[in-house]
Amino acid sequence: MRIVSELDEIAISSPIGSTGRALALAATALAAFLGLAASAMAQSEMLERGAVLFAAAGCANCHTDRKNQGPLLAGGRSLITPFGTFYAPNITPHPEFGIGAWSDEDFIRALREGVAPDGSHYFPSFPYTSYTNMTDEDMLAIKAYIFSLEPVAQESRPHELDFPYDQRWALPFWKWLHFEPGPKPLAEGQPDEVRRGAYLVEAVSHCGECHTPRGRLGGLDRSMWLAGSSDGAEGEKVPNITPDAETGIGDWSADDITFLLSMGLLPDGDVVGSTMWEVVSDGTDQLSAEDQEAIAAYLMALPPIEHRP
Ligand code: HEC
Ligand code: HEC
Repeated sequence: MRIVSELDEIAISSPIGSTGRALALAATALAAFLGLAASAMAQSEMLERGAVLFAAAGCANCHTDRKNQGPLLAGGRSLITPFGTFYAPNITPHPEFGIGAWSDEDFIRALREGVAPDGSHYFPSFPYTSYTNMTDEDMLAIKAYIFSLEPVAQESRPHELDFPYDQRWALPFWKWLHFEPGPKPLAEGQPDEVRRGAYLVEAVSHCGECHTPRGRLGGLDRSMWLAGSSDGAEGEKVPNITPDAETGIGDWSADDITFLLSMGLLPDGDVVGSTMWEVVSDGTDQLSAEDQEAIAAYLMALPPIEHRP
């Protein structure tokens, strides 16, 4: 409306004439339409990217109570750890029960720093320790995708933690010991494909959160990166995926790895078990073939570590 009335004024005070005015109006309308179409396209591209990253980052695996057919991202799945049981909260876009009222800055701060909008600290059972290395752009694509989903009015269940691990105020101390806010450059000096793989493995799909052993306070032991762990999410053993020939996956080809990431099948044709199936299904199977190959290239370039969890 404002544009039209401004044009009217121009038309009145200048000899532009009615044809000129109609042309100017048409040009304005076309520009506005093209602008809208471009932003709609940018929006839908962002949602598509967000959907893939959301899958590869496994957000739904923790934030959905799949065992009880709970609604997507409405929270409630139990994560049993040596410190007690965590229940990932409702992160649907519900303004009261979920994160619907969060700004972009709130969301980035949670994933980058492990800090809530009210300034309190998150437990590292929320793997912000890995997500911290994601780019702002990728985080916001995930947020856009989450905000396109159904809001669910369901209260989050409180964690059941043993003393002293229930002391949220002590988290800054834990973070000081075990957390380095990103984004930090990954696999520096390596070929582009390996660096892309490093980004996917270390920042997005947080493979190390399960495949790397932890110290007494639950921090990842970086000197044993991806060498396998005996305390997986459900108390299971998580295999060594470094290229060690005896104890790791040194005898796997790149195709064996991409086959697992896309189909959930092991080289012998068995379906991969437990939480790894969740990582693949509606997870790494959504990644492009190129990205799956990048993960394989990264794993094969790792230093082999001899370790049997
Ligand atoms: C391994 C399980 C796990 C995965 C995977 C996971 N989360 Fe969480 N998340 C949690 C837990 C547990 C908490 C609660 C932490 C706390 O109470 O300190 C949490 C908390 C959050 C919060 C804070 C919510 C609030 O109300 O304060 C947000 C936002 C969040 N996660 C988003 C995500 C996103 C986005 C992804 C995927 C990129 C993701 N999470 C993946 C377990 C997980
Ligand atoms: C939530 C925990 C978890 C995450 C995250 C995870 N894994 Fe796994 N992974 C497992 C478990 C548990 C197994 C063992 C499955 C079994 O017993 O069949 C496994 C098995 C594997 C195997 C087969 C190894 C073998 O010797 O049989 C490979 C390869 C693998 N994971 C790679 C990855 C990659 C790459 C990522 C990141 C994209 C990843 N995993 C993320 C838990 C996880």
